[in-house]
Order: sequence, then structure tokens, then C-alpha cells
Amino acid sequence: MTREDSTTTSEERLRRLRERLGGIAYGGDYNPEQWPREVWDEDVRLMKDAGVNLVTLAVFSWGRLETADGEYNFGWLDDIMDLLHANGIGVDLATPDAVPPAWLIAQYPDILPVLADGSTFGFGSRQHFDVSHPVYQAKSRAIAEKMGERYAGHPALCMWHINNEYGPVSYGPHADLAFREWLQAKYSSLEALNSAWSTDVWGQVYSAWAQVNAPAQPRTWSNPSRRLDYHRFTSDSMLAHYRTQRDILRRFTPGLPIVTNFMRFYKNNDYWAWAAEEDAAALDIYPDPREQDAHVAAALNFDLMRSLRKGQPWLVMEQATAAVSQWSVNVSKLPGKMRLGSYQAIAQGADSILFFQWRQASGGTERFHSGMVNHAGPNTRVFREVCELGRELKGLSGVAGTRSAAKVAIVFDWDCWWALELGNSPRSDLSYPQEVLRLYRPFFDANIPVDFVHAGSDLSGYSLVVLPASYLLTDQAAQRIEDFVSGGGRLVASYLSGIVDQDNTIRLGGYPGALRNVLGAWSEELHPLAGDGEEVKLSTADGGTASADYWTEHLHTTGADVLATYASGRLAGAPAVTRNTFGAGTAVYLSSRVDGTFLEQLLATERDAAGIRPELNAPRGVQVRRRTGNGSSFLLVLNHNDAPSGVDVGAGGTDLLTGTDVTGTVELAANGVLVIEEATSAATAAGTGR
Ligand code: GAL
Repeated sequence: MTREDSTTTSEERLRRLRERLGGIAYGGDYNPEQWPREVWDEDVRLMKDAGVNLVTLAVFSWGRLETADGEYNFGWLDDIMDLLHANGIGVDLATPDAVPPAWLIAQYPDILPVLADGSTFGFGSRQHFDVSHPVYQAKSRAIAEKMGERYAGHPALCMWHINNEYGPVSYGPHADLAFREWLQAKYSSLEALNSAWSTDVWGQVYSAWAQVNAPAQPRTWSNPSRRLDYHRFTSDSMLAHYRTQRDILRRFTPGLPIVTNFMRFYKNNDYWAWAAEEDAAALDIYPDPREQDAHVAAALNFDLMRSLRKGQPWLVMEQATAAVSQWSVNVSKLPGKMRLGSYQAIAQGADSILFFQWRQASGGTERFHSGMVNHAGPNTRVFREVCELGRELKGLSGVAGTRSAAKVAIVFDWDCWWALELGNSPRSDLSYPQEVLRLYRPFFDANIPVDFVHAGSDLSGYSLVVLPASYLLTDQAAQRIEDFVSGGGRLVASYLSGIVDQDNTIRLGGYPGALRNVLGAWSEELHPLAGDGEEVKLSTADGGTASADYWTEHLHTTGADVLATYASGRLAGAPAVTRNTFGAGTAVYLSSRVDGTFLEQLLATERDAAGIRPELNAPRGVQVRRRTGNGSSFLLVLNHNDAPSGVDVGAGGTDLLTGTDVTGTVELAANGVLVIEEATSAATAAGTGR
């Protein structure tokens, strides 16, 4: 790959990566330093059998690459890069700064992160750094420089991978200092900080900046605005580290993609802010095979990844072939499930299938985590499935780079997540991701494509917007929601939305302060239901009944129609679910956690009214997604059921996995997948994907 000028865009970098790999990236983390040299030859031979075209090197190799302060040893990495290149396998090269080596920690023990209670993590695991420590920062910059310089011209190098699953939060003295600087930049004056944090409550007023520090373990409950800012700060400070490493590597290789790997439902980092700094969103995904519906939560995470960079193809950076080793019971994926999960990611916009890891380790912490090649060697079911998938993916080069479009947007926002789960609220046991999942699921089940957006997004491209417990809404976010509805959009908001402002301060005058106007309704009091399992009855405007649990509110309407009324409990007779006409649009409010059937019907009514249709009418458990682009359209059909399902694929087209034409009703085996290159009509609409 030739050197590019610094104006090369992410799109262009990814296009070249696809071209170079011949379509979808296939492979995984490779840790050759854990194996004797003779195993490397077998590795590359087996990689070729499996169709591997990309491996990630050096993720945890700092101690092998810099053996003492300033003493670098790149010889082994040169050798493996050369060997991989000679065998046509590309390299995603990692900066190894997720694991500061033992010698560095011995020299600077205060690099280790400090917990909120003042104790310090020990050496012996990974991610053991306080990202604000100046020596950690300098040493990680130095090794990135060395690697950039040394490998920029290496023909195996295809992309960069920075750190690994950024996340450690520290409350130590370096974090204190950095937090103070971050606050000074944000608030300018102590008066502004005191006001934003409501420090007159419980007498917490600060009179000098030196008094302000990280929110270490308090004697009892602590200030929620300060803790919210600490969440923002820790995400920002880790992102600043990522950005520094990225900019170093960018200077050497402006044409190569640079990413770090994200995690499923990961709370510490605001992935909207992060994704904007990456060339692609990249996800590590480990659904628990014991969970019947693990694929639904996976789907949510996949749609989130697709949305983080506005529909741009994303990367599966890690998944397991079979079992993981992180839970108390680590069940292996059943035959066919690894393939199904891989196609699910592709159906939802992924352009890579990468695993952790190539060869299952024989020692160390994760020795029971499966690999593409397991302890027993290549003569296994798992390796046969790995080779079969690698072979199939070679036929899908046309799918890589294509996109999907959605008319439904669901708000997923880290500020909402942080603020909502800080506690000291009427109910402190709400899980934000579970709340989003509850409102996502009916769309998944109905095969309606969904984008995620952050709370302040421009919503003008959507017909239906859903706010699940969107607790913190800034003035700008509230305004955008109003503009969306008044301009003809349909909104569905659930309880605990729009309660606080950007400082985590309650919006006064009736809940939900940010949405009262658009909802045509307001609550005078919040009434969470006591205890698990307590339910209330609802009577619906069409004469039916429903139920609700968890949460209720004393709601009043100021123009909204009542769709359901509380029929039991202390709020009997009061409105429970409302719909308001606002400008050219409508806004529904759910003041309670309504039962699944009612929710499904309500969302179906809203999306029908918005003119949104499923990709295909398929039976429950059959997922259908469409990817379009470059004049082609691909319909991916996946049977998540454990039994065969009949699916009417309409005009259909050619199934790229079998090379046969499919049309009308098709019997899809359990775990079965179709990747249909559609015949002309859909293809002419292709290229319209955002
Ligand atoms: C990921 C991590 C990998 C590996 C994998 C399996 O979170 O990035 O290094 O540990 O999990 O547990």
C-alpha cells in the first residue's frame, strides 16, 4: 500500500482494506510469542486452510517488545510479519499498551490504577494502568513511535489496533490532577462548578480548585453531578490517550485504518465520542450460549456498531469459536451457532469475522477459551466449521462495503446511562441497557431495521423515534425532539425520560420537564411499584385490558389522548399511556412498564402509521436484513430457531452460499442462513443505503 496524504478518509481506508483482503476480513488475534517457532509454520499452513486473511498481532506483547526501559526487541515480530506476508496473510498490528510490563510497574508502581476505596490494583492481570499517569503516557507514546517507524513500510501491515478494550478507571493522584484540569476547561470558574454540581446541598461548596478531586469512596451517598462528570472525564481521558496513539501512527501510515476494540453494553466509555475518532467501530462480542435470546442482545449491539459511524460497515474484532472462559459455567456453542452468529453480524453490517484467538492457549488465564485451533489440534468439529466458514466468506466479497438503511431511530446515550444508574433516584435498580433492549426487541422480532442515535442527534431522516428511559436530555436534545415531532415525526418515549438537564439537575414544573410540551402531558408524582412482581391493571381506549409493572406515574394530560388508563392500584382512573398531536407529528408517552403484548401492538400501530414495513414477513425467530450498494442488493435470512422454518423470500435471487436460485417459500433448517443476491427490482433500489 502506498503512502497517502493525510486527507485520506476513513471510507477510503476501509475500501482499500477490503480490496486488499478480497472482501470480508477473516482471522483473529494471534499470539505467536506464546508458541515455539516450529508451531508458527503449522499456524500459517492451517491459516491458509481456513481462509484466514488477517490476524491481529502484539496486543499483549509490550514486555516482549521492550524488555527493559528503552531496550526494544522487534526481531521476533519482524520474523512473524515476514512469515505471514510470505503466506499472503495481512496483519492488524496492535500497540501493546494495554499491558504495561513488569519492569515499568516496578519502576513506577503508581501507574497501577487506584480503586475508589483507595486500594490499588496489583500487577498480574491486564489493563493495569492509570491513563492519566505521565510516564505511562510517555512510554506508550514511545512504543507507538517505534512501531510506526519500523512497520509503516512492511508489506503485511493492513491496519492498526490501539490498546485493548480501554476501560480502567482510577481514582489516584494522577487522575485527581487530570480531572481538575478537565473541570477547569469545562467550567472556567468555581462558581459555575458549584452551581452545576448543586454543592449547597449537603454543604459541599468548593472555595479553591485544589479542593476538587476525583470522587473517591464517600462516607455515604455522594454528589450525582460530580460523579456524572467523572464518568465523562474518564471516557474523555482514555479517548485522549487513544487519539494520541492514533495520531502518531497516522503520521507513518495515513492510508491505513486505525481502530480500538469496543465491548458489548460497555458503560465506561461514550462510544459515540469514540467512534467519531476511529476509522471503523470494532466490537468484541461474546453472547452466552446458555441464554436462549442471546442473539437479540447481540443484534442490539450490532445495530449500535452500525449506527456509531452512520451506517458505515463495522468490524467484528473478537468472538469465540466455541466456549469462553470468563463465566462460572462456560458452555460451548452448539454446532452451527458460530456460523449463524457470524452471518448475523454480517447481516447487520459487519465486514469482518475475527476471533479471539487463533490458537487456544495452553497456559495462562484464558487457557480454556476456545480458539480457531483448539487444544486437540485441527482434527476437530470446531476447526472444520472454521474452515467451512472461511471458504463461504470468500464468495461474499460483493457484500463487503454495502450498507443498510432504517427509518426507526432508538436513542442510546451514555449520558442517559450514567445519570440514570447513579442511584439516589426513586428506583435505583433500573438497568439502562435492559430498558433499551425492551423497546428494541419488538422491532427486532418484526424485522424492522433500526438505527441508534445519541440524544442530541439530528432526527430529520427518521419517521419514528423511540426514547427508552432517556433520563438526561440537554436543551438542544429536547429542541431536536420537538422539531422532529412538529415536523411530522412520530415519537414514543418511555418513563424516566427527560427528567434531568445536562448537569443532572431536575427540570422543574412537572415531569418529564424536557418533554412536557411535546407529550401534552405531565406527571405530578413518580410512583415506582414496590417489590418485584407487583403489577397494575390497565384498561385500553379500545375496551381491552393490559398490565404493567415496575413503575407508575401520576399523569395529567394537557391535550394528549389517553390510550390506556390505570385500572388498579393507587393511580386507578389516571392516564397511563397517552398520545399527543404536536404540529404535524405525534408523541406517545408510556408512564409505566407495560406488558410485552401491549408494547408490541402499540409499536406496530406507530410504525404502520409512519409507513414503515418489515424487510420481509418472516416467522418469529427468523431474522431478515438487507444490505445494498454498488448496484447490488443482498437479503440475508437467518433462522435462529432450533427447528426448520418456512420463509417466503418473494422474488428472491441467487443464494450465494449454495449458488442456487431461491424464490417463494423456502424451508430454512435450524441455524440455517441464506445470503440472497436479489434479482433486479431490489437491486435497482440499491445504492440508496445511507
Ligand atoms: C476480550 C479480550 C481478549 C480476550 C477475550 C476472551 O475481552 O479483548 O483479549 O480476553 O475477551 O475472553
